[in-house]
Amino acid sequence: MEIIVLGVSSSISLYKACEIIRGFQEKKFQVQVIMTKNATRLISPLLFSSLSGKKVLVDPFEEEYSEKIAHVTLAKEASLLLVAPATANIIGKFASGVADDFLSTFYMAAECPKLIAPAMNEVMYLHKQTQQNIQKLQAAGVKFVEPERGYLACEDEGWGRLAAPEKIIKESLSLLVKSKSLKGKTVLVTAGPTREFLDPVRFLTNRSSGKMGYELAEEALRRGAEVILISGPTHIFPPPGAKFRKIQTAQEMEKEVGKNFARADIVLMAAAVSDFRFARISSQKTKKDKLGEKIEIIPTSDILEKLSRKKGKKFLVGFAAETEKVVKNALMKMQKKNLDLVVANNVSGEEIGFESDFNQVSLITPEGETIHTEKKSKLEISRIILDKIEEILG
Ligand SMILES: Cc1cc2nc3c(=O)[nH]c(=O)nc-3n(C[C@H](O)[C@H](O)[C@H](O)COP(=O)(O)O)c2cc1C
Repeated sequence: MEIIVLGVSSSISLYKACEIIRGFQEKKFQVQVIMTKNATRLISPLLFSSLSGKKVLVDPFEEEYSEKIAHVTLAKEASLLLVAPATANIIGKFASGVADDFLSTFYMAAECPKLIAPAMNEVMYLHKQTQQNIQKLQAAGVKFVEPERGYLACEDEGWGRLAAPEKIIKESLSLLVKSKSLKGKTVLVTAGPTREFLDPVRFLTNRSSGKMGYELAEEALRRGAEVILISGPTHIFPPPGAKFRKIQTAQEMEKEVGKNFARADIVLMAAAVSDFRFARISSQKTKKDKLGEKIEIIPTSDILEKLSRKKGKKFLVGFAAETEKVVKNALMKMQKKNLDLVVANNVSGEEIGFESDFNQVSLITPEGETIHTEKKSKLEISRIILDKIEEILG
C-alpha cells in the first residue's frame, strides 16, 4: 500500500484532518501523520494514531525512532506529503528552509509531490510575507489547495478557512501517480518566453511566465513519460525528473528543439517564442545617440512550421495566444502547420493566461471539434490537454 504523509500543524481546523485520513483510507492508502509540537497542544496525537493505526511522529530526537533515521526512511517511502492544515508559521518555515522539527525536516528530505492546504485568519493569509512564502514554494513546485472564504474561528468572516476535506483529498489523489498511461512515450515540452537581444543589456521579450508548459511537463512525468523541457527564462524550478534545457533566444530554442525532436512522440510547443528579433545585435552596449531613429526588426524563423514538415507520426500540439478571434486564428494555425491539436487561449484578460496561475482554453482538433474549458488552474488545464491527447492517440 502506498503511504501518504499527512502533516498537521497547530490551526484550530486540525480536527478536519480526521476526515482527510478517513478519505485516504477509503481509497486504500496508508496514512502516516506528523504533527508539530504546537498541534499536539491543541489535540492529543492519540486521536490521529488511533485513526491511522500508526504512531504519530512529532520529535525526530525521540529515542524510539533512533534505529533508523525516521525522516529519511519515511521520505523514501512516501508517495505524497500533504500538510493540512498548514499554519502561516509552517509555510514560512518551509519557504525559508528551516528544519527544526519532524515536519519541517521531513519536508526538506522528501522528494515526493507536496501539497499544502493553508488555514489561518484572513489578515495572516493575505499578509505580504505569507503570500511571498506561498509564491516561493509554488515556484519550487509545491502545490496549494486555496483556503475558502467563510466563517473563521476568530469569529471573522473572510478568506483563510481550510478548504473542504473532499477537495483536499481530490487534489491529493490527482498528484499521485494514478496510471503510467504515458509510459514508454517521450514528451517534448517548450515553455516560457524568449529574449531577443539588441545588445548585451537590452532585449525584446513577452509576458509568458512558463507556468503552463511547466505544469504540462510535470503532469506528463506523473503519467510516466520521459520528459524533455526546453525553457526560456522563468522564475520556476524545473520539475525533478525532466531533462531540462535552458535557452534564451528563438534561435537557441530552434536549435535545442531540433536536437531533441527526433526522440519525441508528443511535442507540446507551449513556449511564447518571439516572432521578431533585432536585425543587428551589438556585442557592446549601444549608446543612445548611436541607436538612430529606427531600429530594424526582422521575423524569427517559424519553428512550428519547420517541425510540421518533418512531423511523421509525432503528435504535434501548438499553442495559440490570441487577444481576438481566438478560435478562428487557432484553426488557421492548425491548418497551416499541420497540427494534431491546438490549445488556444485569450490572453487579453488579467485573470487568465500570461503570468496567471489560471487559464481558460479552447482545444481544437483537425476535425473541427472544439472543447471550451472553464477557468481552471493550469494544473487542471494540463490534465485536460493530456487526457485529450491520450484519447486521440487511443
Ligand atoms: C487556538 C489556536 C488556534 C490557532 N489557529 C491558527 C490557524 O488557524 N492558522 C495559523 O496560521 N495559526 C494559528 N494559530 C497560531 C499558531 O498555532 C502559531 O503560529 C504556532 O506557533 C504555529 O506553530 P506550528 O506551525 O509549529 O504548528 C493558532 C493558535 C491557537 C492557540
